[in-house]
Amino acid sequence: MSVPFDQNIPSDTLLSVATNAARQAGAVLTEYMRTGFRIEHKQIINLVTDADRQAEQRIIDVIHDAFPTHRILAEEGGLTEESPSRYKWVVDPLDGTTNFAHGFPAYCVSIGLECDGRGIIGVVYDPTRDELFTSQIGQGAYLNGAPISVSTTDHLDRGLLVTGFAYNIRETPNNNLNHFARFALKVQGLRRTGTAALDLCYVAAGRFDGFWEVTLNPWDMAAGAVIVREAGGKVTDFKGAPHSIYGRELVASNGSIHQAMLDLLQEDAPSS
Ligand code: IPD
Ligand code: CA
Ligand code: CA
Repeated sequence: MSVPFDQNIPSDTLLSVATNAARQAGAVLTEYMRTGFRIEHKQIINLVTDADRQAEQRIIDVIHDAFPTHRILAEEGGLTEESPSRYKWVVDPLDGTTNFAHGFPAYCVSIGLECDGRGIIGVVYDPTRDELFTSQIGQGAYLNGAPISVSTTDHLDRGLLVTGFAYNIRETPNNNLNHFARFALKVQGLRRTGTAALDLCYVAAGRFDGFWEVTLNPWDMAAGAVIVREAGGKVTDFKGAPHSIYGRELVASNGSIHQAMLDLLQEDAPSS
């Protein structure tokens, strides 16, 4: 239900708060990378560091300073549900924690914003390259202020694709290894970067032609899905149906190779 206090916030204002929060969180990550951090295990291969937690707290502080009534779904802290606000921020303070923990420079801050359940803003900041990906619904996608668009590659043979594996890879047969093996024989190149939010931005920027993953969380996808769409790309589930960040699957592409990706993903899908 909408409430008067948060109606009609200009999109530029929302974007500037998202950008400010992402840059501040990026600075937190950079400082921890310089000075050191503690690693804890959520599960056997699922890590969290104090950098994740402090970056998240910084983002929450920036958002709540600007918009005290907005809801926030953040990976490490869960959902603040008290408010009936139309606005819900979906935050991954450090996407690519395993990379970060090893000093491998592929990680980012991801901040998406929903209004009435629809993704309207996406901001992803890569502090290692000082690359800021931004988008507002209906207004295109940008990298450090310059417009970006998806690639024109129209065949898997010429495509550079990317995927990822969830932390439950050892526990389920639905672990993406089947798809990975099949795609590897059909594409020009296949990568696993370890940061889904950046994978989406790289599809948006034409650096990758397509990306899929089997088991993602809302905070991995919220910002990047808006950025891909605004860059002219396509985002669906594995059957080609409209994508929801609350579903687990995601297929993102430049549009031209989308059907070929769906066909490959369906090849050994259980018949329904
Ligand atoms: C992970 C990364 C990784 C993807 C995993 C995610 P985290 O997020 O995005 O690329 O394959 O599914 O869980 O834990 O680094 O924020
Ligand atoms: Ca993540
Ligand atoms: Ca994370």
